[in-house]
Amino acid sequence: MALVHNFDLQLHRRHTDAQMYTVYPDDVLPMHLAETDFSTAQPITEALMARAAFPAYGYTAERSTFPLAVSHWMSSRFNWTIEPEWVEYSPSVGSTVVFAIQSFTQPGDRIVIQTPVYHAFHTLIENSGRVKAENKLVLHEGRYDIDFDDLERQLAHPRTKLMVLCHPHNPIGRVWTPEELQRISELCLRHHVFVVSDEVHSDLVFAGHRHIPLPLISQAIAEQCIVAINPSKTFNLAGMRASAAIIPNRRWRDALRMTLISNKALDRPVFGMVALEAAYMQGGYYVDQLVPYIEANAQLVDAYLAKHIPGLSVIRPEATYMLWLDARKLGLKPEQLAPFFLTHARIGLRDGAVCGNGSGFLRMSIGFPRSVLKQALERLRSAAAGLKPRA
Ligand SMILES: Cc1ncc(COP(=O)(O)O)c(C=O)c1O
Repeated sequence: MALVHNFDLQLHRRHTDAQMYTVYPDDVLPMHLAETDFSTAQPITEALMARAAFPAYGYTAERSTFPLAVSHWMSSRFNWTIEPEWVEYSPSVGSTVVFAIQSFTQPGDRIVIQTPVYHAFHTLIENSGRVKAENKLVLHEGRYDIDFDDLERQLAHPRTKLMVLCHPHNPIGRVWTPEELQRISELCLRHHVFVVSDEVHSDLVFAGHRHIPLPLISQAIAEQCIVAINPSKTFNLAGMRASAAIIPNRRWRDALRMTLISNKALDRPVFGMVALEAAYMQGGYYVDQLVPYIEANAQLVDAYLAKHIPGLSVIRPEATYMLWLDARKLGLKPEQLAPFFLTHARIGLRDGAVCGNGSGFLRMSIGFPRSVLKQALERLRSAAAGLKPRA
């Protein structure tokens, strides 16, 4: 019989070294981070416990089962057949972005990102001495679109060498369509720009939308990209430090591997590998139950804000448990928004400005049991009750 996961279960993670519970005082609900508060899938816990029972945890070999698990997940979830040798280990998606920057660009080169976007992309590019080239996404009637003329301008710049595509996109929740992916691919190919397709949120796509791994768009773009995935967001495994980079082209794969070797980053975590393999081999049932749960959470927040908090609204997501809230009509200055809700609602939210092109917006995680989410909404409502929203 298929396993049933209880996403209503409330874990008490404070004092377990969970990073998200160390940022704010104890009475604050931390909703700023892209991590769920759900327990992971039972087969993962069981596999970890079985491995823990054998009392030696030394250096780990390159397991042949790791690429097979990744390839199983890609074919069963996304209908993408990959060769096991395309799969490289990387500690995290963020690390893969850094290694790609080191492998395929020089200091001073430009790297395209589409803002507002996951804030670490900004810092990773800046810290590497490369230049951030922003293709600003355009909000039109409640949905973000790509300004393709601007994207082409950014890609055509002679120093642009790399694009980091966020697919699906955090925080605006778009699942890029085949047409959009086709146009992005054509432009990157035309201007010889390598793509890192960050597909860390690809498991979390809502009904009516479909995630298409970028390499499925064409053989040509498959040869000019890396797909970065990690079971971390889906299965609450970020502390395991085990992710995969899928690189169909051998030359690029060798280049990335050289960078991993020179950064001494190839050593695989014993438990991370076990967790990733259990997730990708046995975790399908969990995702099938998680996605409708998060989607219902998103609908709950949308309806609640529309009814109770004038001036604060949801940009309707097509994927992910990160909600992008439009707070421009709340009657506060953009820089006051996150501090206001921290002080008056005791809720930690991320200031949208850190994502670039996001001033006046807030990012909120809804990867919580519904009872916790409902309490959070009530706290937001009573905090906002004294505000004078703009029409
Ligand atoms: C789009 C995106 N990429 C990467 C990450 C981080 O993933 P990892 O822990 O694998 O670096 C996040 C986490 O918020 C994210 O939202």
